[in-house]
Amino acid sequence: MRIRVENKLSGDLDYLVVTRLPGSDTPATGLDEKTTGLINKVKELGGAEKYLETETVLYTEGGPARRLVVVGAGKDFDVASARKLAQTVTRSLRKKGGKRLAFAFQLPALSNAGDLYQALAEGVVHSTFEPGFYHTGENKDEKVLEDVIFLTNSDGDIKERVARGVVIGEGINLSRYLANEAPNVMYPERLAQEAEKVAKETGLEFHALDKAQLTEGGFKAILAVGQGSIHEPRMIVLKYNGAGDAPYTGVVGKGITFDSGGISIKPAEHMDHMKMDMSGGAWTIGIMRILAQLKAPVNVIGVVAAAENLPGGAAYRPGDVIGSLEGKSIEVLNTDAEGRIVLADGLAYARKLGATRLVDMATLTGAIVVALGNSVTGVFTSDQDWTDLFLKTASKAGERAWQMPLFPEYKEQIKGTTGDLLNTGGRAGGSCTAAAFLKEFTGDVPWIHLDIAGTAYTDSEKAYQAKGPSGQIMRTMIDFVIATAESNK
Ligand code: BES
Ligand code: MN
Ligand code: ZN
Repeated sequence: MRIRVENKLSGDLDYLVVTRLPGSDTPATGLDEKTTGLINKVKELGGAEKYLETETVLYTEGGPARRLVVVGAGKDFDVASARKLAQTVTRSLRKKGGKRLAFAFQLPALSNAGDLYQALAEGVVHSTFEPGFYHTGENKDEKVLEDVIFLTNSDGDIKERVARGVVIGEGINLSRYLANEAPNVMYPERLAQEAEKVAKETGLEFHALDKAQLTEGGFKAILAVGQGSIHEPRMIVLKYNGAGDAPYTGVVGKGITFDSGGISIKPAEHMDHMKMDMSGGAWTIGIMRILAQLKAPVNVIGVVAAAENLPGGAAYRPGDVIGSLEGKSIEVLNTDAEGRIVLADGLAYARKLGATRLVDMATLTGAIVVALGNSVTGVFTSDQDWTDLFLKTASKAGERAWQMPLFPEYKEQIKGTTGDLLNTGGRAGGSCTAAAFLKEFTGDVPWIHLDIAGTAYTDSEKAYQAKGPSGQIMRTMIDFVIATAESNK
């Protein structure tokens, strides 16, 4: 697919999409008389009044496209609703067989056109992801977009912002691809290969520690989680230097390529969803690629703690006491609380590599889904000022995030009897005790933990998004890493 910015239309399009702002008579720019006439007709008839409500008209002869689609932009049309509109409309028209589309937007007068066009490009790219990687024959979705044109007369940096949106959208789709891939294919070694591929394409520094190197280096926590699987764990590292000798932000992702629960095995129902338990790691790889492609002025170390949690004969068990790279001992009560164990080594390693701030992303607890539902990321922290910047960035990016408490009481629940720390604090406050556990491995560097268990994956198809991995919070992370580097100056 090619996305282009043009100031006039040529060639035969399948669809011309025009947004309609209720209450405004300003026509979308760059349209011929005939099209404007048809749009006025739709208005007269009261069509496409509400947000995402559409009205399709056939051009009888000689229009710029075969069909005109007028889409309601709604009263509060802003950057976020524009992105979602692009996702929804593009997805639906592609599914109808549209190959060549053009969009002409009637824009709110005060909006920042650059932000808007970037969001539209992100939305168009987002809409192209479908999870049917292995469909064959008639199941195969062969409907692909060829050309998407944004019609605009605006000068300024529109082309550049659209290009930025494409980079971000493609990075997010790479992460969605990694998270959706079957767990028999996407095991730790393969995930490391994918990260290496990204490094080769973008010039990032890469290394991945294999089992021998992890053993040699004292990564006892991640090794314990991985020991029940024939697929050995990997500690994957991508490093991006875009800001000279400025401090490094560490981005650490949970990379459990499949979470069966281990000996504390999960129920069969929906266990297949646990192929996405490496979403935090997948997001990390995508974020590193995007930052490198944007040549962002930041220094970042991405770490993915990748392991498979299976109940093989050599598996770790409840009752085991294991060590960690940090040196603290962990008393295992439940092998299904494995994410915090691999992250213990991931967080310690990121610091060892020089990160002086840490953000981790993890599909960590079912409890966060109970607390916040499926559209909100849980945020925990040891640094309030930095977190205020995160929450502000998330709100600007249109991604829901909500801070959860990390009071000292939670630490009481995970005090070990035989080891230093228990790997679960029981049902009460499950997400908070998990965060309290992670904090023990962050030394004294500012740290933010994102529990994405509720948001990383959708079990149902939405008009704006295919079923499966969402990539949610990645856009915030890109802006946040950049804003952090700026505030460090
Ligand atoms: N990967 C799961 C958490 C999860 C649940 C992610 C639902 C996505 C959707 C995690 O490893 C896990 O199993 N957590 C346990 C912890 C418990 C044993 C303390 C949980 O939440 O039940
Ligand atoms: Mn688990
Ligand atoms: Zn897990």
